[in-house]
Amino acid sequence: MQPATADDTPGIVRVVRISPIGAKDALTADALAALSYWAEVVRIMRILSGIQPSGKLHLGNYLGAIRQHIELQNHHECLFFIANLHSLTTVNDPQRLADLTRDVALDYLALGLDPGKALLFRQSDVPEVTELTWILATVTGKGLLDRAHSYKDKVAHGITPTMGLYCYPLLMAADILIYRSNLVPVGRDQVQHIEMTQDIAGYFNNTYHCDALVRPEPKLNDAAVVPGLDGQKMSKSYGNTIDLFDDPKSARKRIMAIKTDSTPVEDPKDPDKCNVFAILRLLAANDETREWARRYRAGGMGYGQVKTRLSELFDQTMASARERRQTLAADPDYIEDVLSTAGRRARALAQSVMHDVRRACGLTVSAQSPQ
Ligand code: TYM
Repeated sequence: MQPATADDTPGIVRVVRISPIGAKDALTADALAALSYWAEVVRIMRILSGIQPSGKLHLGNYLGAIRQHIELQNHHECLFFIANLHSLTTVNDPQRLADLTRDVALDYLALGLDPGKALLFRQSDVPEVTELTWILATVTGKGLLDRAHSYKDKVAHGITPTMGLYCYPLLMAADILIYRSNLVPVGRDQVQHIEMTQDIAGYFNNTYHCDALVRPEPKLNDAAVVPGLDGQKMSKSYGNTIDLFDDPKSARKRIMAIKTDSTPVEDPKDPDKCNVFAILRLLAANDETREWARRYRAGGMGYGQVKTRLSELFDQTMASARERRQTLAADPDYIEDVLSTAGRRARALAQSVMHDVRRACGLTVSAQSPQ
């Protein structure tokens, strides 16, 4: 006998999509158990992440964050935004900020973001996020922000300690909470900000005895910290990056400049202590990675050989994206259309959460607010 389907048409329901938001209200535990008898139940998460347009995107951004984003778009509800409000803490040239914002959009689309599957938008197209930032500031103790590693690190690297830089984690919490995001795929350097966001959501909900804000979880992959040329975390502010869309010759030059130790060619080497291997293992297939690890340990292999291979792998990874980027760059209207359409959709989601937030804290709700 054919199992029944949700809409009574013949056939087997292979995938039942259940959003975690409101799923408990929509289906009882018994109904869920019955569904799993005849249907594959897929739990769709709301995924959100952001990237600052404060410089060229680099391999750390790609391997730690963007690669996961592009994989996740096939299975979940995804929102990715260009964090131009955050970048005002370091970029004060309007033309440069506009250009960098467009460049991040081009990079994402060239790398495989599909605007039919995921939203890609400008942070500033959802102005409600700044309203939520203020509301969150009123329930957050200053001590929490005093503990932010990223603030201390940026000040240590010479960035002016403005209030914007200090309050950066509040804006980031608002980014995440305004969409009731479940998962935030990032590199390790952002995890403390997401933990702060969890605390901040709790402060708001406890203060106003509500559940308007949803606790998010960070999502890391196996490239949580990609090292740069000098072995520190790859970062725009450390000047140690391999930029994704550099011309192949310059990228190769950068790769050949990765710092290695002075172990002679004939001696055995420890792959786990080598910056080149740390990046290579993220681009090569498992078999190839294992073979290189063997060659390191066996001795007789120079670092130049593995750098040359890394450079080839980088080229292979980027070849089709480079071509796509060139085509996309010739159509600025398309890029603007992708960003503004997604911005409107993201804003509608944000407005409905802000309706609940405003109501929870007793701010006037206007007649136009969504119900
Ligand atoms: P940003 O622009 O510095 O970096 C963007 C993403 O790239 C990851 N990343 C790395 N991952 C592994 N190894 C590295 N060397 C490396 N360098 C960068 C970052 O962890 C990040 O995931 N504050 C954020 C932007 C932001 C945001 C948000 C992120 C604003 N609001 C809300 C998530 C959710 C930032 O400055 O990322």
